[in-house]
Amino acid sequence: MTDLSIRDMIPTDVERVCEIIGQHNKWDKEIAGPFFLREFKENIAGLRRSRHFVAEISGRVTGSSGWIESQICAHGIYWLGWTYVDEANRRQGIGQALLDHVETTVRGLGCRKIYLDTGATGYDTAIKFYERNGFVNETILPDYYSSGVACYVMAKTLTKALAQSIR
Ligand SMILES: CC(C)(COP(=O)(O)OP(=O)(O)OC[C@H]1O[C@@H](n2cnc3c(N)ncnc32)[C@H](O)[C@@H]1OP(=O)(O)O)[C@@H](O)C(=O)NCCC(=O)NCCS
Repeated sequence: MTDLSIRDMIPTDVERVCEIIGQHNKWDKEIAGPFFLREFKENIAGLRRSRHFVAEISGRVTGSSGWIESQICAHGIYWLGWTYVDEANRRQGIGQALLDHVETTVRGLGCRKIYLDTGATGYDTAIKFYERNGFVNETILPDYYSSGVACYVMAKTLTKALAQSIR
């Protein structure tokens, strides 16, 4: 896609990104907005613990993704951020371009393993998309999102270098 570009998310993108998220999941939409606003504030304060990107086609935001550094005691672990593509623009390579961009960025930060969480039901497309990109389901957390709604924790190892150097 020739006019596809990826850039950092800015505050004026939040409404549009939340609209895209809301197409798939109303609950995610509610928690994404405050998350992004906190991210902007932390970044201004010099605390870059997460970063989100948007995909644009002809100047219109069509998707988002990003990374969140693990706050648990582990080196080189990142989580995939809010990854959503406008339903009118799916299956055109936008999600792939966003995921490639995130992977390149976290590799540059020393990421050795990237995780993601996704719903065990209602996310078949996303699961296929992640599997195609080398993610494997590592565990299932029952009742994670709400009672009866489980979470798949998928992961992809990017490099074993850090783990080997510690040993
Ligand atoms: C998952 C999602 C981000 C993928 O974005 P996308 O732009 O449609 O994906 P792409 O066009 O880049 O697809 C890349 C590859 O993923 C796989 N894929 C994507 N959609 C697929 C589908 N519906 N069925 C099977 N495989 C699929 C294919 O292998 C595809 O490559 P191909 O088209 O050459 O066969 C998008 O479907 C989406 O926003 N879904 C709803 C929100 C969601 O579930 N987000 C994840 C939250 S954890």
